[in-house]
Amino acid sequence: MSHSRISGTGGYLPERVVTNAELETLVETSDRWIVERTGIAQRHVAAPDQICSDLAEAAALEALANAGIGADAIDLVLVATSTPDHVFPSTACRLIERLGIASGAIAFDLGAACSGFVYGLDVADRFIRTGGARRALVIGAEVFSRILDWSDRSTCVLFGDGAGAVVLEAGEAPGILSTHLHADGRQTPLLNVPWGVAQGYESLQGSHGKVSMRGNEVFRVAVRTLGALVDETLEANGLARGDVDWLVPHQANIRIMTATARKLGLSTDRMVSTVAEQGNTSAASIPLALHTAVSDGRIQRGDLLLLEAFGAGFTWGSALIRY
Ligand code: COA
Repeated sequence: MSHSRISGTGGYLPERVVTNAELETLVETSDRWIVERTGIAQRHVAAPDQICSDLAEAAALEALANAGIGADAIDLVLVATSTPDHVFPSTACRLIERLGIASGAIAFDLGAACSGFVYGLDVADRFIRTGGARRALVIGAEVFSRILDWSDRSTCVLFGDGAGAVVLEAGEAPGILSTHLHADGRQTPLLNVPWGVAQGYESLQGSHGKVSMRGNEVFRVAVRTLGALVDETLEANGLARGDVDWLVPHQANIRIMTATARKLGLSTDRMVSTVAEQGNTSAASIPLALHTAVSDGRIQRGDLLLLEAFGAGFTWGSALIRY
């Protein structure tokens, strides 16, 4: 069995920036409320003609360039998304064509909402360790702006669009040290998008197809669950609080993120935060944050990273990585 390591990262954010001030013109809210409760100052929103695979392709191209390999070397493509181009084919299959990946590669989408990227890393790591793939593209890509009710102030201020990607390659030294994934479907009413084939086309109107969330309750479960996840990850790896170099959290809310950093024994300057500039980009938020901190030189080769996410389902998961 070989190991897997991250050899390149990439990210893409749509050009259009929507500030809190602009949202003040849409719903009854204020910059102050949004910043104080969430840490978000702005978010990027895709152009009307941009879809999930556009964002994913741009992030993937940058990850490939940073890994120094061509798309034809990729044998597994995994896209974590809740906002795919189509019901089918998968966005991952569309990327095979768009990136020029050799026909015969493995490609599929993965749905685990905001935890999708960590789920994707786990799956790709297992493919690589068992010899099923040698070079994987793991992408988180979302156009959440399409599934937001822009008249609902309790959700529309929180999310943004974007994509992040990593190239995961087989190697001798362990890069992905451990992953821990969980799910519990019992609290679906707290966070969902009530839209899908099950609903039938006639119900596709009004707030159907839009994010519905009881934010306050989600908040409490997220903080508690991520605290337990941190304990689980440290214990499984024989680590103590303060041993991790960087926390790269899902960017849902600065208050959830700092609670997790505290639990890890890390000061906030050891936590990568993009939430102010990007909002919550769901499955894209972790690879975007990782790419940001790798690009600006904060995260260095050899650093110990803890990635963690919590999302609809509920799903939650962590990945401990020697970068
Ligand atoms: N602007 C102004 N006021 C707002 C508002 C907005 N955008 N959104 C909600 N409010 C109001 C509410 O109506 C409520 O008013 P009331 O007291 O008169 O009823 C008040 O603010 C407090 O609402 P509450 O939901 O209790 O606030 P909160 O402190 O829990 O913050 C969230 C709301 C959504 C920011 C927070 O709960 C959160 O981040 N939850 C987790 C969300 C999340 O992570 N989801 C994705 C998981 S991946």
